Amino acid sequence: MATVTSTIVSTDVVDSTVLRTRLGEERADLVFRQNQHALQEVVAAHSGRVVKTAGDGLLATFDSATDAVRATVAMQQRVSREADALRLRIGLAAGDVSWERGDCSGLPVVTAARLEAHADGGQILATGLVRQLAGDRSAATFRPVGQLTLKGLAEPVESFEVGWAPLADDRGTTARSTVPCPAAITVAPAFAFVGRLAERHELDRVWAAVKAGEPHVALIGAEAGAGKTRLAFEFARRCSAEGATVLLGVCDTELALPYQPWVQVLDHLVRAMPAELTGSLTEELAELSLLLPQLERLVPGLVRTPSADPETERYRLFSAVESVLADAARRWPTVVVLDDLHWAGAQTLAVLRLLARSGSATRLLVIGTFRDTGDEITDPLASCLADLRRTETTVRLRLGGLDGENVERFVASAVGHELDRPLREVAATIAEHSGGNAFYIGELWRHLVAGGVVAEGGDRWTVRTAALGVGVPDSVREVVGDRLTRLSPAARRLVELAAVAGQRVERQVLAIAAAQMGTGEVGDGLDELAEANLLSEVGGVLPTYQFVHAIVRGTVEQAIRPSAKARLHLQVAEALEDVHEADRRPVLAELARHFTAAAALGGPAK
Ligand SMILES: Nc1ncnc2c1ncn2[C@@H]1O[C@H](COP(=O)(O)OP(=O)(O)OP(=O)(O)O)[C@@H](O)[C@H]1O
Ligand SMILES: [Mg+2]
Repeated sequence: MATVTSTIVSTDVVDSTVLRTRLGEERADLVFRQNQHALQEVVAAHSGRVVKTAGDGLLATFDSATDAVRATVAMQQRVSREADALRLRIGLAAGDVSWERGDCSGLPVVTAARLEAHADGGQILATGLVRQLAGDRSAATFRPVGQLTLKGLAEPVESFEVGWAPLADDRGTTARSTVPCPAAITVAPAFAFVGRLAERHELDRVWAAVKAGEPHVALIGAEAGAGKTRLAFEFARRCSAEGATVLLGVCDTELALPYQPWVQVLDHLVRAMPAELTGSLTEELAELSLLLPQLERLVPGLVRTPSADPETERYRLFSAVESVLADAARRWPTVVVLDDLHWAGAQTLAVLRLLARSGSATRLLVIGTFRDTGDEITDPLASCLADLRRTETTVRLRLGGLDGENVERFVASAVGHELDRPLREVAATIAEHSGGNAFYIGELWRHLVAGGVVAEGGDRWTVRTAALGVGVPDSVREVVGDRLTRLSPAARRLVELAAVAGQRVERQVLAIAAAQMGTGEVGDGLDELAEANLLSEVGGVLPTYQFVHAIVRGTVEQAIRPSAKARLHLQVAEALEDVHEADRRPVLAELARHFTAAAALGGPAK
């Protein structure tokens, strides 16, 4: 049995049987299910873990008391916005709890449950210890409610009511953004989020300023795999749970289309806009139809008068982007994540500079991530960074490696119990070899699991310590390379084809290109690659696969001989032509890239 110090949150719905009668069984079921789901989202967004759900209640644990307090406030705010008059009571307690078979027990668990039972609808009750632990950091108010005598507890408990207020509601309707959070941000990653407390704190501070009407840009720089995207996504998820609009634009190594990440951002936003809105922004949208031809279908009747002067054209486009984002940010505080800015083109960065300088989108936070190692920073990015640095509302965060303690946390959450000495040794080995690089930490852990150095038996993980030293590869390339050597020849050819195709590839394109290579069963190969954690399937209109990380794709691609690569480019290009025979416009840029690469590498040009 493992013992850890945690903050426990217990919640329940007040008068749920009354509500069931009022709503009817079917509607009530739906409402309660949605409520559970919303609360679980809030827990995850505050780095907590749901231990169990019972009836309409929920029990969750948090490593940080501050996170726990904030989560309970966010839960009440979330529930208060719903129309079905559901009301929550919440109890919080902290202390040592014991873990066994995924369940926890101990005095804090009992105390949290009793406080919850004691609370009224809409009330949050916490023990004095929670208040001490969270201190000022939670920014919550604690009103003393005295020593409560709780059922089943020998001693009275010093208790406090945590204050909360419904979120400001500026339109008199729902305060939650109706723009759905982009799917890439909502998916829960394989490993729990650890560390980055200082950075999260800084982002919280900036976000508070943004919500008060002072727009900001937050730039997260670090080496490849350090955890930039993850930090940005974790933070954005939390903002979304609060009700903010979250938008995402990803720069792509391969497809350097002008304005590409902004196209992604605006496309998502415009699709979620209700008709009344698209109706009031017709001029701006007409301008944006240059970037988003699909707008003409979404919003009928857009007319745009072109100008002969390219400078004017550019100016009009920029102002339209700005106006549409400003409008979104007026409705709800808005976070735009621009991922991988080291791959951004000059035009993309020009829009970012303009937004940062003009400040007209008042409740807008732009979070940009980029690899800041010398060879990755392009000239346009360098001058954009220099320019942004001159504005007061830009903050720069630089991510270092995760320290030993955080690597221990990482391993502890991977195994789901407290670490014994051998597991702590494993964590230390991983910390040392990875230098704290988050991508590398995850890969090394997977490597040790795959090699049987650590293994799960019963409800605990054990270590074959003797094998530890020999089992740790020295570089990311070696870890990924090792996984490649274990693949069947067909899967190996398939993954090389995918690497040449890009970060994402449609299954059909892969299948046709593979058939040309004489690679047999594509389905089996893809299963094998998913199992080896190299590719994963992403939802979409067409079945599509993507590399689990850009670093994995890079490693695979680097290992291919140039002559073989030229052939693969050609095969991908021909498959693309085949699949998109009816309309090649969307893939023209991609086709050009493959034919050019094939020619440059010495293959036959087209
Ligand atoms: N603080 C963290 N706790 C747990 N896992 C993390 C953390 N940060 C990153 N990771 C994991 O490490 C891997 C690499 O992180 P991420 O993709 O965010 O790196 P990156 O800096 O964006 O890399 P790149 O420069 O290649 O885009 C991911 O699997 C991510 O989920
Ligand atoms: Mg990234």
